[in-house]
Amino acid sequence: MEIIILPTAEDVAQLAADIFEQYARKGATLGLATGSTPVAMYTELIRRHKEEGLSFAQSKAFLLDEYVGLAKEHDQSYYATIRREFTNHIDIDDAHVHSPDGTADDIPAAGIAYDHAIKEAGGVDIQLLGIGTDGHIGFNEPGSALTSRTRLKTLHPQTIEDNSRFFDSPEEVPIHVLTQGLGTISEAKHLLLLATGEGKADAICATVEGPLAAVCPASVLQLHPKATLIVDEAAASKLEHADYYRFAFEHNPAWK
Ligand code: F6R
Repeated sequence: MEIIILPTAEDVAQLAADIFEQYARKGATLGLATGSTPVAMYTELIRRHKEEGLSFAQSKAFLLDEYVGLAKEHDQSYYATIRREFTNHIDIDDAHVHSPDGTADDIPAAGIAYDHAIKEAGGVDIQLLGIGTDGHIGFNEPGSALTSRTRLKTLHPQTIEDNSRFFDSPEEVPIHVLTQGLGTISEAKHLLLLATGEGKADAICATVEGPLAAVCPASVLQLHPKATLIVDEAAASKLEHADYYRFAFEHNPAWK
């Protein structure tokens, strides 16, 4: 894992956009996340598309997860959210923006079909990840098998509370989701996890310096050969070895 600590959330967004831009230039398959954290990176990529001609025309995209039972047209479905916040503003073909089908009659079959679609596309080249306050990635809540595939999960009450800010009331947040599993996510060639704000400090500490354990699903990144975590100072505030991570970043020839 490479842990990169930057002063502000805006710095996190800029560096993440630099990394994503390299993949877009190669027409890579992009793994996208929703939630608040990546919005600033998406905004920067939209700017680079509009002002600098950065093209996504050769890329495909796969979302991490979707609420079960929420119509695609619902403004909080992840199908609608990623279009509103990112893909409608760039030149990616909308037919190439995929998400799990949370409205399927047969949810387990929809999970299997989604994993199959990712494989058919040649796999995900770079997977963007946010992290929940309980250490979830995608919607793999604590206790998720480290080898899990795309499947139905029940949201943790903490996640329902965290996400209720997007809905009129907590009762409206769906309880179930269809999410890429930790095994599915781990097959992406590069994992890029972003975290900003003090609220993520415990989860980042458990991910980076805790044991590899299903109780902190993001700790599965410890097994990945190419995982990059970009965090702001607030999210890094509980890391015991923060000074070492800074030193290693400053001396990493790849960033020169
Ligand atoms: C969203 C997702 C989630 C979020 C996480 C953090 O597609 O998979 O894991 O990344 O809940 O959300 P924010 O960024 O809103 O704090």
